[in-house]
Amino acid sequence: MKKNAKEKQKRLHELIPAGGHTYSKGDDQFPEIAPGLMAKAKGAYCWDADGNKFLDYGMGLRSVAIGHANDEINEAVCKQISLGTNYTRPSVLELNLAEILVDLLPSVDMVKFAKNGSDVTSAAIRLARAYTGKKYIAVCAEHPFYSFNDWFIGSTACNSGIPDEVSSLTVKFNYNNIQSVEDLFAKYPNQIAAFILKPVKNVAPEMFGDKNFLQKLKELCDKNGALLILDEMISGFRFDLKGAQNIYNVEPHLSTFGKATANGFSFAFIGGKREIMELGGIHHNKPRVFLLSGTHGAESTGLMAAIKNIEIFKRDNVVKHHWDYGKKFKDGMNAIAKQKGIDKQFAITGFDCSPTIEARNLKGEIDLALLTLFSQEMIRNNVLIPWIAFSQSHSDLELDITLDAAEKALGIYKNALEDGVEKFLVGTAVKPVFRKFN
Ligand SMILES: Cc1ncc(COP(=O)(O)O)c(C=O)c1O
Repeated sequence: MKKNAKEKQKRLHELIPAGGHTYSKGDDQFPEIAPGLMAKAKGAYCWDADGNKFLDYGMGLRSVAIGHANDEINEAVCKQISLGTNYTRPSVLELNLAEILVDLLPSVDMVKFAKNGSDVTSAAIRLARAYTGKKYIAVCAEHPFYSFNDWFIGSTACNSGIPDEVSSLTVKFNYNNIQSVEDLFAKYPNQIAAFILKPVKNVAPEMFGDKNFLQKLKELCDKNGALLILDEMISGFRFDLKGAQNIYNVEPHLSTFGKATANGFSFAFIGGKREIMELGGIHHNKPRVFLLSGTHGAESTGLMAAIKNIEIFKRDNVVKHHWDYGKKFKDGMNAIAKQKGIDKQFAITGFDCSPTIEARNLKGEIDLALLTLFSQEMIRNNVLIPWIAFSQSHSDLELDITLDAAEKALGIYKNALEDGVEKFLVGTAVKPVFRKFN
């Protein structure tokens, strides 16, 4: 990084707490040598403020699934901008997008739009409490994030500013562990409003008799008067255009989507069963639920981007592209690790469409310093890969660039396993986002 960019990065921290607007973009989440300030992005690439070009696997925190600054989407959005971005009454665009989403998702009778995933998961929680009249919320312990709002952040180590009375209402269960679900229903009888989880992360739902974990969880929710909320923020559009709920054949009461739905534009939505969603409406006699209401909730750029994005996903079978590219990516990376004899210490795991980087030390433990070293060495070879998000713009050329970079990066990684990571790592290792102190 040039001096000028370093100074700008420092200034950012003087003006903005944490030096940015998403904790996972923070300096503590990247190697010291990572680009500090970005200037532009196109397709599968991004450029920092010094003009250095990187192949990107961060893809705007996984929100960009077609490619950065896609011409087709941007043209549709620009045309929409010329027609105005915010009106005094609901727009035709809102109706059109609602029709598309309800048509796409069998579990969804009604939708409500927002600009952030956190807003729609929080709306789902409020709705679940109102619908069931119960107060506890059960979150899946293995899934790290659902919302920046108190109901969830209060359950993390970074809970400063949130009263215990609020935190104590969020309890935890374990993925693929039906006993942990039954234990919660036994401990809080008739008091749990909802179970919220990602339908899938790195492992598939296990079978319990003739039902998989998600179907069994839905059955237990129905039996105990709780709602099942599937948070498809990451799985949505990446595992399947209809969400992972389509793959695992489960109909949640409520679903939340965001990220890959609008190619990096700001759009998220909650969808679900009519009798639940309708509580947020103005044509019933029950107590009113203030579901979601924002000046910018239906601002038109995000809506038009979502419409065009869905059109391209359907036309080009983008989901298949992600799975196919991911398989080649995983196989290629893991073959390099094997050839270097470090496949027990480095692996790309999880599902082809949304894999994970696993860095382990010689004791077999997950090691954040080694993970940081891998990321650092990939950056030295102009690949920005803090996690793995694919786009339609990642093609065979990008795969070759990635594998060439990994060949070099994993060479250093092997040396670090032998001689100590501290000899190779510049600065400190990345830290968990949810920690009590800096
Ligand atoms: C599973 C999950 N839910 C909710 C959110 C919150 O979405 P947003 O960052 O758009 O508020 C995220 C963001 O990373 C997420 O990964």
